[in-house]
Amino acid sequence: MKKKWSGLALAAGALAFSATAFAAPPSAEMLANACAGCHGTNGGSAGDTMPSLASQSASSIVESMLKFKSGERSSTIMGRLAKGYSDEQIKAMGGFFAKQKLHVTQQVTDKAKVAQATKIQEKSCGRCHLDEGKDGKDDTPVMASQWLPYLQIQMDLYTSGHRKMPDKMAEKVKELSKQDLDALMHFYAAQK
Ligand code: HEC
Ligand code: HEC
Repeated sequence: MKKKWSGLALAAGALAFSATAFAAPPSAEMLANACAGCHGTNGGSAGDTMPSLASQSASSIVESMLKFKSGERSSTIMGRLAKGYSDEQIKAMGGFFAKQKLHVTQQVTDKAKVAQATKIQEKSCGRCHLDEGKDGKDDTPVMASQWLPYLQIQMDLYTSGHRKMPDKMAEKVKELSKQDLDALMHFYAAQK
């Protein structure tokens, strides 16, 4: 109980401080600070089950946040978090992360799988996951250099029906084997 009260007192103190120090609403950078524990400073992921947001398009981040907020996109954490932000605040954070440079990760990927996936990605995924996943058409997320575990979790959510794929993506994915999809995740994780 004691701990809870001192926490409250601290929070009240912080509020009083911020109210006098900043008359203006919080900047995009201040809002984005709340994401840094998981998505890293400037949007470079802090852990291998969490995506980097740096260099994703603002529309991709906004779309994901709105889907988390409405519950349309399944999540472990983001659904609860997204509900705490207004659409305006979400737009501001999207703009902030879009301006950050691609977060390049160093991770172990399987070279043979990467090679195997190169042609498949060109043919089946590259129309939306542009430039080897470093860019994305409209609201398509950046996948280059994302952590392999994150990509694998998301692909499993899609293929098990827990996350809805865009229809045109589903058409491509259903033509591929489990091995092809696994190789593709290695491909994207390996891009720098
Ligand atoms: C406690 C850790 C944590 C915090 C804090 C956090 N996130 Fe996340 N975020 C995740 C995880 C984990 C995922 C994967 C989805 C899930 O399981 O919730 C994710 C996914 C996302 C995605 C989807 C990206 C993609 O490539 O599909 C966006 C956008 C996002 N978060 C934005 C934010 C923003 C903006 C904030 C700050 C307001 C934030 N997150 C704070 C853990 C976190
Ligand atoms: C018609 C465009 C399109 C095609 C083709 C496409 N995708 Fe996607 N992809 C998207 C969009 C849009 C999203 C974001 C969907 C969402 O938020 O629900 C996405 C998301 C993803 C994600 C989740 C990324 C993240 O950060 O959470 C993975 C993994 C993925 N695609 C893999 C693939 C693979 C592999 C292929 C080729 C077999 C492919 N996609 C083909 C448009 C496409």
